[in-house]
Amino acid sequence: MSALSELYTEIALCQQCEIAKYRNKVVPGEGAEDADIMFIGEAPGWHEDQQGRPFVGPAGKYLDELLASIGLRREQVYIANVIKCRPHGNRDPLPMEIQNCRQWLERQIEIIRPKMIVARGRYSMTMFFPGKSISKIHGTAQKRDNVIYYAMYHPAAALHQQSLRRTIEEDMLKIPSLLARAETIQEEQQPQQLTMF
Ligand code: URA
Repeated sequence: MSALSELYTEIALCQQCEIAKYRNKVVPGEGAEDADIMFIGEAPGWHEDQQGRPFVGPAGKYLDELLASIGLRREQVYIANVIKCRPHGNRDPLPMEIQNCRQWLERQIEIIRPKMIVARGRYSMTMFFPGKSISKIHGTAQKRDNVIYYAMYHPAAALHQQSLRRTIEEDMLKIPSLLARAETIQEEQQPQQLTMF
């Protein structure tokens, strides 16, 4: 059994939060164990809860298109969320839920060891770019401990606000060149206090 499959078994048994009782399926994440890029969203929605897979609703279809625009399929990257169960009624995750769930994301990152982490959405941003505003830092990268952290608007944002589509698509197109020159990107001088690690 692969390290990720073992982790999925553990995640499926997790009952730390009240929302675990109401979930239809847990949504641990999916993709390649040796992926270079990890996309980290917020939380499963209705479609994800039905299928047990991340980003399979309308925002997910758009994510697939964005991936195709840089010649990738979802099986070649890794896609996960900050929390693994759907908050009822699509409410925002509670701080306690984020706190309880963070061990799983930390272990996913440890197993996959991605070259690049793409934060998508408010909670993912808070974790990897604390105190920063997406409108200011989208499309920019920071390298810390040999990992490139990259901030993008959540794909759902483009579904609500058409004007963001172009920005999101342009930010996506920057990913291949960032990865290609990963070795040459300067590490951040000021070590940043991450919320998560
Ligand atoms: N939005 C997210 O942040 N994650 C999903 O899996 C689906 C929609």
